[in-house]
Amino acid sequence: MNYKMAYENILTTLQNGILTITVNRPAKLNALSKGVFDDLDGAVKEVYGNSEIKGVIITGSGDKAFVAGADISEFGGLTKEEGKRLASRGQDVFNAIENAPKPFIAAVNGFALGGGCELAMACHIRVASETARFGQPEVNLGLIPGYGGTQRLIQLVGKGKAMELLMTADMIKADEALRLGLANHVVPAAELIAKSTEILLKITSKAPLAIAKVIECGNAYFTDGVKGLEFEIDKFGECCETEDFKEGASAFVEKRKAEFSGK
Ligand code: COA
Repeated sequence: MNYKMAYENILTTLQNGILTITVNRPAKLNALSKGVFDDLDGAVKEVYGNSEIKGVIITGSGDKAFVAGADISEFGGLTKEEGKRLASRGQDVFNAIENAPKPFIAAVNGFALGGGCELAMACHIRVASETARFGQPEVNLGLIPGYGGTQRLIQLVGKGKAMELLMTADMIKADEALRLGLANHVVPAAELIAKSTEILLKITSKAPLAIAKVIECGNAYFTDGVKGLEFEIDKFGECCETEDFKEGASAFVEKRKAEFSGK
C-alpha cells in the first residue's frame, strides 16, 4: 500500500479504502502535542494526495480518551504572538480536515475535550461511544478554544447551547451530545469502529466527486462572502460534466449498480 506509516504520534492503517488515524498518546489521554499536529498534518496531506484513500476515521488510542485537548504542558509562558501561531497552526490542520474532498468521521471513544472536541467537530460526522464525553473546558485554564471551537460548536448546536457549554466548561455525555446534534450516532464502545466503517463504506460507494462537492457546498454555507445557492448551482453544473454522472444516470435506467470511477 502506497501510504506513509512512519508517524510517531499517530497510527495509520488503510483497509478497503478507509484510512484509520489513531491519535496514539494514551498515557497523556492522546493530548494534541506539536508532534501530533505535525503527524495529523502529514496524514491529512496524504488523504488529499493518495487516490487509494476514499475516506477517513479518526479515533483515539485506548479506551479512555478520544483526545483530551491540546497538550497543556506545551502552553507554559506563551506570548501573545506564540499563542496566535499555536491557534493558527491548529486551525490550519483542522480546516484541511473540514475542507477535505473525502469524508472524515470522528469515532469518539472517550474524552473529547478542548482541542479533542474541536478535532471531532472538524470532521464531517461524529459517531460516539456510550462512554464519550464532550466539552470545551478552556475557560478553566484562562483560555478560549483556539482551533475553531467557538465557531463550529455554534454551527452544530446553535448559539444558546454553545454559549452555555463554552462559558460553563461543562462536560456532556454522549446521549446529550446526540440530543444536541453534536454526535450523529451513539453506539456501545465495542461497535464504534464498525458503525463508523459502515457509514463510511456507504458514503464511499457513491460518486466520489459528488461527495466532494457536497462537502464543498456544506462548508460554503458557513463561508463569508459565498452565496450558497449560487455556489450549489455551479457545483451541480460541474457534476454534469463528470463521467460518474453519466454512469450513475445510465446505471439507474439500465437497472444495475453504478460503477463510479471518480472522474
Ligand atoms: N494535556 C496534557 N496532558 C494531559 C491532558 C492535556 N490536555 N489531559 C490529560 N493529560 C495527562 C495528565 O496530565 C496525566 O498525565 P500524568 O499521568 O503524567 O500526570 C494523564 O494525561 C492522565 O490524565 P489524568 O488527569 O490523570 O486522568 P483523569 O482520569 O484523572 O482525568 C480528565 C481525565 C480528562 C478529566 C483530565 O485529564 C483533564 O481535565 N484533562 C485536561 C482537559 C482539558 O482541559 N483540555 C483542554 C485543554 S486546552
